[in-house]
Amino acid sequence: MKILVTGGAGFIGSNFIYHMLREHPEDTIVCADKLTYAGNAETLGNAAKHPSFTFYRADISVSRAVEEIFSREKPDAVVNFAAESHVDRSIAHPSVFLKTNVLGVQTLLDACRRHGVARFHQVSTDEVYGDLPIGRRDLFFTEDTPLKASSPYSASKASADLLAGAYFRTYGVPVTISRCSNNYGPYHFPEKLIPLAITNILRGKPVPVYGTGENVRDWLYVEDHCAAIDAILRRGVPGRVYNVGGHNERSNLQVVRAVISLLGKGEIEFVCDRAGHDLRYAIDPSRMERELGWKGSVPFEEGLSRTVEWFLANRQWWEHILDGSYRKYNREFYGANS
Ligand code: NAD
Ligand code: DAU
Repeated sequence: MKILVTGGAGFIGSNFIYHMLREHPEDTIVCADKLTYAGNAETLGNAAKHPSFTFYRADISVSRAVEEIFSREKPDAVVNFAAESHVDRSIAHPSVFLKTNVLGVQTLLDACRRHGVARFHQVSTDEVYGDLPIGRRDLFFTEDTPLKASSPYSASKASADLLAGAYFRTYGVPVTISRCSNNYGPYHFPEKLIPLAITNILRGKPVPVYGTGENVRDWLYVEDHCAAIDAILRRGVPGRVYNVGGHNERSNLQVVRAVISLLGKGEIEFVCDRAGHDLRYAIDPSRMERELGWKGSVPFEEGLSRTVEWFLANRQWWEHILDGSYRKYNREFYGANS
């Protein structure tokens, strides 16, 4: 199978590429990524040495660029990770979120339709369901929970999900959608809570915690998410949505305190709350378990400890991001406009 992975130079996409190269050496991986601030060519350094891996620098919302890749590579399946992914940035600058997360998905769906691609998998998020009350531990998001996005980011992801569903029903494009909870692990960009906490503490800076720190997220180690997408790609049913999560609910304060305890140091600084801040996410992953035999396998404490170890062992990776030199690397290897 030849799989086009869009957004593969980001956090989850790169982990997925390494998962596929390791678990399915018979497959060929083509990665297309615009290399925005969140894309990092250094992350794909080891993949680039692999004979079954090809990289294109391309914007998924530019139909000519997408068409060129589809015509040349003729992928059997497309897995779309490409997105603007940071909620805080969407609150400050919504328009690029609509361009990439909505129009980019439409461009990919059109190309899949034209080329008769056997599967388009849209990597979505639990944020499309809005939020749950903090005190109601009996309530979870199921695949039937109505979409009720809170931020421009989650509204753009919900729009893409609706578009993907419409292309399945109207044109018969074989679409699957996964809605996963918060990921963490290697190659996580240090603007998100866990890598920000680790890298701030290692540089002697406090960890900013929004509001009271009581908001709850449902954490999943990134490798479990990659295995879930792999299972959906191989055994999922077109037209179906799959919730992905591992029942690892933690408040933000619990998460930051756990990082402080693993590093043996660190200070918290309470700062202004995020506008429209979702209170709690909690996924019911029983469809994945029942229908596809997938189950989250990494407990939060173990995954967090692995993540902290990874950031300690790969200091150069995140220092190049923080000092901006990763963008020079992107330019040198994959062309201008980075
Ligand atoms: P990320 O921000 O780390 O990576 C996004 C990647 O997409 C980057 O490599 C970037 O260069 C690329 N990209 C952005 N705009 C592009 C465009 N127009 N054309 C081509 N490439 C473009 O994101 P992530 O955290 O790895 O998330 C990947 C996907 O998974 C996103 O769709 C996100 O909504 C979804 N998701 C993320 C999480 C999470 O916790 N991080 C959880 C559930 C779902
Ligand atoms: O639930 C899945 C989503 O998880 C994905 O769709 C998004 O792409 C991904 O970014 C993530 O969104 P969150 O907003 O939950 O992640 P973030 O790491 O930005 O924030 C996690 C929680 O921590 C959230 O309640 C806000 C809080 N926070 C975040 C930052 C960056 C802080 O308290 N301080 C911070 O500095």
